Amino acid sequence: MRNYAIVLAAGKGTRMKTELPKCAFPILKKPMIEYIHENIEKSTIDETVVVVGYQKEIIQDILKDRVKYSIQHDQLGTGHAVKATKEHLLDKEGTTIVLLGDMPLVNHKVIDKVMTYHRDSDNDLTVVTTDYDNPKGYGRIIRDDNNIIQAIVEHNDCTKEQKRIKEVNTGIYIVDNKLLFEAVEKIQVNERKGEYYLTDIVSIMQPDYRVGAFKLWDSDRVMGVNTLYSVSIAERYLRDEINKEHMLNGVNFINPETITVGHNVKFDSNVTIYPNTTITGNSEIMSGSQIGPNTELHNATIHHNVMVKHSYIYDSEVLSDTTVGPFAHIRNGAKIGPSNRIGNFVEIKNSTTGEDTKASHLAYIGDAETGSGVNFGCGSITVNYDGVTKHKTKIGDDVFIGCNTNLVAPLEVGDRVFIAAGSTVTKNVPTGALAIARNRQINKEDYSKNYIRPKKDNSVDK
Ligand code: UD1
Ligand code: MG
Repeated sequence: MRNYAIVLAAGKGTRMKTELPKCAFPILKKPMIEYIHENIEKSTIDETVVVVGYQKEIIQDILKDRVKYSIQHDQLGTGHAVKATKEHLLDKEGTTIVLLGDMPLVNHKVIDKVMTYHRDSDNDLTVVTTDYDNPKGYGRIIRDDNNIIQAIVEHNDCTKEQKRIKEVNTGIYIVDNKLLFEAVEKIQVNERKGEYYLTDIVSIMQPDYRVGAFKLWDSDRVMGVNTLYSVSIAERYLRDEINKEHMLNGVNFINPETITVGHNVKFDSNVTIYPNTTITGNSEIMSGSQIGPNTELHNATIHHNVMVKHSYIYDSEVLSDTTVGPFAHIRNGAKIGPSNRIGNFVEIKNSTTGEDTKASHLAYIGDAETGSGVNFGCGSITVNYDGVTKHKTKIGDDVFIGCNTNLVAPLEVGDRVFIAAGSTVTKNVPTGALAIARNRQINKEDYSKNYIRPKKDNSVDK
């Protein structure tokens, strides 16, 4: 028997008060929908259909062809959204788990646990529930005197007594696939909201089928993200969970509550992360490295024994034994060689550097390929942009670039070159040469005497 997943992600997320469709909203810089999809992939689910609608291209661009899509043209409720998946799932034998796209904390362990419970209990429909001290906004679980689930009532439709119920609907349902489509056909529109509620399948199936509930104790894990405030709660939860796992694996977090690490970041042990540091995307940090404080890394690969302080590294790689910062900015596919020194106010973009290269202060290196043993003096820059196109600078090995040098690209500089401070280099420099590209200094002797007032003589003759 096959296992299917339906993920509902067609809604706008009105309560977020943002333009982005809610399920594309980032949690630790990763769209919410990616979490649920990655966890489905790790679970026992064989096939996934995602329901999209509002700004569907954004969600589809995130998940690409990793899932099937059904389009819900008008967002007429969660029951209506499930109906849209008929084209893929109607008449299929198997079990379907329905998940909401706004529950990024649900992991594959939860998915497998509730699927197993459903199978072992022989239910036709299992609703996953949890208890909240403050259940406001969630659908309440109505049970009869024998404690059997009878219905789900949305918060705004609850009576005063029902509002006191702490057990809520998480929005996860596991159900026989064929019975799911029979039941959704029977959902009546909710007059107050004008929507077809998926929650109604409980009362629809109850009289004829085995309907049960599975209560999860870790209620934070199944929270629905409906507002920007709940984004912050979900991020805090994930941050604690991720940081704890790394710390137990031997990564030293100093002040972990100020450190944010994304879901896909990898660390070796013997790495230290200092406060106020954010590491996200597909970043990897190898042993012996020290990152932070006040550092932001995204899609960064940091090799062994690297030190990065107060800096920003995006989509780039730093090889072993290099130091970066304070206040360096490395981006757009830069690859910094081993044993480099990238110092304060240095920006490196889409460039490679060889071994032992130094740019210790105030430099811009863009679209350049640099050999080993190169020294960029303070204030030296590659002038890569002519206002229309970007051009490349190629620099050989053991080159000494004097302070305040402009290397106007396209440009090639050979090995063992010296460039005099203050030069604006516009022509290639051959191996072994000294390039001086600046005006000769003229000293005008005694020039000042006409301008400087004679010193006042304060001595008093007695
Ligand atoms: C829903 C449940 C509620 C439950 C809560 C758990 C219903 C009616 N209510 O409420 O019982 O306690 O989740 O978090 O199901 N969506 C669509 N198409 C639509 C409407 C929604 O695809 O027409 C998607 C949304 O994009 C979202 C998900 O379904 O990812 C849930 O919608 P949302 O509006 O967040 O439902 P809640 O009010 O949170
Ligand atoms: Mg919700």
